Amino acid sequence: MSESERQVGIASIKLSDDEIDAAVAVMRSGALRQGKECESFENEFAAKVGARHAVCNSSGTAALHLAYMTFLEPGDEVLVPSFTFIATATSVVAAGGKPIFCDVDPKSFLLDLKDAESRITEKTRAISPVHLYGNACNIEAVQALAKKHDLKIVWDSAQAHGATWREADVGSFGDFVCYSFYPSKNMFVGEGGMVCTDDPAMDEQLRLLRAHGDTGRYMHTRFGLNYRMTDVEAAIGRKQLSRLDQMISVRRRNAGILNEKMADIAGITIPAANDSVSHAWHQYCVLVDKERYGLDRDQLIEALSARGVSSGVHYPRGLHQQPVFIDRYGEQSLPVTESHGRSVLALPVHHGMSEQDALYVADAVRSCAA
Ligand SMILES: Cc1ncc(COP(=O)(O)O)c(C=O)c1O
Repeated sequence: MSESERQVGIASIKLSDDEIDAAVAVMRSGALRQGKECESFENEFAAKVGARHAVCNSSGTAALHLAYMTFLEPGDEVLVPSFTFIATATSVVAAGGKPIFCDVDPKSFLLDLKDAESRITEKTRAISPVHLYGNACNIEAVQALAKKHDLKIVWDSAQAHGATWREADVGSFGDFVCYSFYPSKNMFVGEGGMVCTDDPAMDEQLRLLRAHGDTGRYMHTRFGLNYRMTDVEAAIGRKQLSRLDQMISVRRRNAGILNEKMADIAGITIPAANDSVSHAWHQYCVLVDKERYGLDRDQLIEALSARGVSSGVHYPRGLHQQPVFIDRYGEQSLPVTESHGRSVLALPVHHGMSEQDALYVADAVRSCAA
């Protein structure tokens, strides 16, 4: 392929042949609903991340909602980063709580714990740090804050399959670790989610709430919903899980190339991770400084597109800037979130890329500078 023909997309969402075969085998069997495949997927996922329990369900949003349904009371407050996907906060609202939007650290893009602590009130019940882009939060610092203020932790791990903190998988740290298997994610099934927990009582609650709070024969003891996964999705998930390490290692290689080749481009800030983190590179996000680079973020998107490179913006505005939340909670100012919303850019890093693709992306960013 000549370099002028190269196209590098932003995500790799192709299923492998054995994933397709596994899904088809379930479809042929006729046993589509939650069953043996889901059970095996849960057991294998729990073993992989080092959690005692894993409860599969219908989406990352459902996973978060289920976690909150186990303990949140009406009016309880939950500290969430504003710089994240909307489900981090809508799941709190769906369970009757109020998300309290906090700013993020300018370098890591992760929840700023000082800012979060300053927003704690007598109503604060939980904290939901997001391992954004696959970059793990400082687990010990979050746990210390939660312990000090008696908060539950609902880790939003939707983007962090395969990320580790001090060599332990982020899925191994309770109270709740919530995953998404949406197609853009590091591993996916279509639509799906998982909650990991170390608490057998919570495991039991999550299973109950996932299926209408039904304890058998139409006896509904708790308010629940239908948040089940199907065996078709679980069969795909099991296969994806078996190649997760390999997919993450390609992402890590690609991120290494991007880091090395772009570190000296004036006006492009490459992503930073704590030394204790093994980043899972769901996204590779840079900051674009128009004064030094010559183009602003949106102009760079256009210039890259002309060179066959797709890019994305995660996220153009914080949750506190979303009309749905301004209507409910009023205006608020969070400077880092707002500034990053204007300058953040996700470049391709996914496991479908070759080394040449990664080099091409880095060269394209260098050559677009004005
Ligand atoms: C940080 C974060 N939280 C929650 C979710 C919700 O996951 P799902 O789309 O599977 O409902 C996502 C997915 O995009 C996400 O990125």
